[in-house]
Amino acid sequence: MARLSVLVFGIVGLWTQVCCLENDKYDEYSLIRIYPTNGTQVETTNRFQDPEHLIEVLKGSRGINDSLDLLVAPHRINYARQFALNNDLRFELKQKEYGRAFETVERVPRRRVLRSFSIYDYNSYTAIQDYLETVARRHPELVTLQLLGNSYQGRRVKLVKISANPNTGNPIVFIDAGIHAREWVAPAMALYLIYRLTNDPEAKQNELNGVDWYILPVVNPDGYEFTRSSKANRLWRKTRSKSNGNCFGVDGNRNYGFKWAVSGVSNNPCDRETYAGPKPFSEPETQMVRNVMLENAKRLKLYISVHSYGQYLVYPWGYTGDFVPKEWKKMDSLARSVSDAVQRAGGKPFRVMSAGKWYPAAGGSDDFAFGAVGVPYSYTMELTEGYEFLFPERLLKTVLPQFYEGFRVFGAQIKKEFKNSRSPRDSESVSSIED
Ligand SMILES: *[C@@H]1O[C@H](CO)[C@@H](O)[C@H](O)[C@H]1NC(C)=O
Ligand SMILES: *[C@@H]1O[C@H](CO)[C@@H](O)[C@H](O)[C@H]1NC(C)=O
Ligand SMILES: [Zn+2]
Repeated sequence: MARLSVLVFGIVGLWTQVCCLENDKYDEYSLIRIYPTNGTQVETTNRFQDPEHLIEVLKGSRGINDSLDLLVAPHRINYARQFALNNDLRFELKQKEYGRAFETVERVPRRRVLRSFSIYDYNSYTAIQDYLETVARRHPELVTLQLLGNSYQGRRVKLVKISANPNTGNPIVFIDAGIHAREWVAPAMALYLIYRLTNDPEAKQNELNGVDWYILPVVNPDGYEFTRSSKANRLWRKTRSKSNGNCFGVDGNRNYGFKWAVSGVSNNPCDRETYAGPKPFSEPETQMVRNVMLENAKRLKLYISVHSYGQYLVYPWGYTGDFVPKEWKKMDSLARSVSDAVQRAGGKPFRVMSAGKWYPAAGGSDDFAFGAVGVPYSYTMELTEGYEFLFPERLLKTVLPQFYEGFRVFGAQIKKEFKNSRSPRDSESVSSIED
């Protein structure tokens, strides 16, 4: 008996150790930034790789003086430093013991258990779903929820359709967020949009007058919940599907079926960042977004995939930096107007460019929307700057309303350019033919 309890105690002790060392694995990691100072160097910078996989690339460089951000295990700092030295790049050890900051910035407060949903919090997927149901119940004249399907692990995924006149054939703005699990500010933004569009009396007069807004706030709920489950998982990016072998997940934003895997992807399922998947649209999550696009292709005029961090607003092509579509100027100038509006509201400007200019990566949703579906305006929006993926919850109150001003500019342009000129009578007769 005594031996048994020693054994049991021993196992528990071992388990605790394994659990918590693993959970604290980023505690000793450092945040390092590497700055290119000319075009050649930007390309060099984005070729950085750690053969030992002890350095995680948080963000690539999208231009001169725009940093490559790395999260580096202690004994690999010299490897990163040497890379910078060899290529004459500016090296900055930005923060030691980076993972410890997860605690101070991100620790989920106890109060959360007792409190209900708040639009300025990072909410659980369940709380988000409850909120969507509540919004639909409170505003039946504006909001319908469409069940799109289930995530890999079986979470129900619902599209929020906001329309003041669902039968008039308005142009559609489609916004998705949260394909990358760790980018918590993106779902927060999408929910704030839903909140404003349904609660703000001005929205009915303006944003919803002549434009329908379809919003999918959490494309990758499995990944999102995984990042919420422990400190060690906080920086998970991919879905949670199981591939052959022992590795999980696909980078949803490399999984779309347009120029799939031609650039900027990994073919290794164990790659934590950019594994493109076994085939295009291998993931139920990207299939659901694709289906929304295809079902609404005719009316879909603007697509925005919300991510973090940057802060960038980029348009196709993502798969190549060698050329841009002939319509690039329209997308570029609208993006600049959006950035100006955010700045006028007190926010930081966006850096505007084509997605693949310095940093080609194929299989993104913005290229698919533009290139395969024919959506005339298509963007990837990287929100916030300065906190990497750990954007503090307390600042959501400040930035979400600032970004909202940018979304209003998007909506105004779509209304101006595409507002339905058919009378409601025409659209009725169209729909009766289709019936
Ligand atoms: C890049 O940063 C360096 C040092 O901060 C500065 O001297 C230089 O003018 C910057 N170059 C550009 C193109 O912004
Ligand atoms: C870019 O900077 C590197 C390092 O300072 C230098 O060797 C190279 O000649 C520069 N390239 C151009 C095109 O200016
Ligand atoms: Zn992302």
